[in-house]
Amino acid sequence: MKLTKLMATAAIGAVLAGASSAEDVEVLHWWTSGGEAAALNVLKEDLAAQGIGWVDMPVAGGGGEAAMTTLRARVTAGDAPTAVQMLGFDIKDWAAEGVLGNLNEVAEVEGWDAVVPEALQFFSKYDGNWIAAPVNVHSTNWVWMNKSVLDATGLGEPTSWEEFIAVLDAMKANGVTPLAHGGQAWQDGTLFDAVVLGLGDDFYKSALIDLDPDALGGDKMVEAFERMAVLRSYVDDNFSGRDWNLASAMVINGEAGAQMMGDWAKGEFLRADQVPGEDFVCIRFPGTQGAVTFNSDQFVMFDVGENTTAQYAMAKAVMDPVFQSAFNVVKGSVPARTDVPNTDFDDCGKKGMADLADASANGRLFGSMAHGHSVPAAVKNAIYDVVTAHFNGEFDAQTAAEELVNAVESTL
Ligand code: GAL
Repeated sequence: MKLTKLMATAAIGAVLAGASSAEDVEVLHWWTSGGEAAALNVLKEDLAAQGIGWVDMPVAGGGGEAAMTTLRARVTAGDAPTAVQMLGFDIKDWAAEGVLGNLNEVAEVEGWDAVVPEALQFFSKYDGNWIAAPVNVHSTNWVWMNKSVLDATGLGEPTSWEEFIAVLDAMKANGVTPLAHGGQAWQDGTLFDAVVLGLGDDFYKSALIDLDPDALGGDKMVEAFERMAVLRSYVDDNFSGRDWNLASAMVINGEAGAQMMGDWAKGEFLRADQVPGEDFVCIRFPGTQGAVTFNSDQFVMFDVGENTTAQYAMAKAVMDPVFQSAFNVVKGSVPARTDVPNTDFDDCGKKGMADLADASANGRLFGSMAHGHSVPAAVKNAIYDVVTAHFNGEFDAQTAAEELVNAVESTL
């Protein structure tokens, strides 16, 4: 058989098998909740309009742990997807394995260096080369409250830990589950991010970024675990295994009063036609106003040799300022570039953008531990284990702080 004929036969075979062509991108992601899928659709439609086909590889599971397990299996089998949703230190870990593509060509033409904040570039680049395109910035120290449940307490929006507890107590007295929470380690970790930050910027930094044993095992950490136990007392008995978006739904339908969650939760409220300020309120976790723990979803392109056309087109599309506005308005996050106007964002989005800029200018912007932006996955998972064991009553606060030092030490 002639070579051209052979190639044509192989191409037809690939199409029949559902494999991607040169103009397709196969995208591995974990955006499967209602709000996440709606945001993903904005991207799919944007790419379709440019003639780039989408081969969907969803792996359900908030926070992306399951997606990362699937990714490892795919790469080990020599079958890496073209593009992968990824967080923070995972990007650096994969880059170190030498399996990622290089996006410098697109980055240069599009001027990414000038518009992507430093804090994101730290994760989008490896050895000075662009290896990922950031699609958003989320932050984790938010509380989402049902407005009528809050109003029924007769109390205002809480601004301190004490006021927050008073609100949760009043909700309980009104027969509502005060805190909607799901039982998955990353969700416990999301609470922990906020609680640690609530005890001070320096404490967050020394414990969860610098991994200072004195901070990890000291009195303040004992206090952090004591606060985690207090929060646990406001969660209903059926939280085990619950997905985060089902916890959001409890707040939306008034079964629960509040959820501590990153701003992807807003995507769920919007999907349910809820209006910020009318149906729900978004506040920073009381005691953390002015500071932000962030995470950024980035699209990492795996090395596919010469076939970079679709990857480059996707990277360019992801970074387009008009797209960044349209996508993030739906997703609940804020743009990953500094030159996108806030015009189309709702009040929570505008606040998110302003908070991010202020926190960055004031040295109060920190990577989220729970979402892979303060320490590599191995350390994060060790912290998760202790936080979840304590949340489920296996350790008292003092023991948890001691275990935290040991768990982190064992990974270093
Ligand atoms: C985060 C991710 C968000 C959102 C969330 C829940 O880690 O950055 O985009 O998807 O998980 O799945």
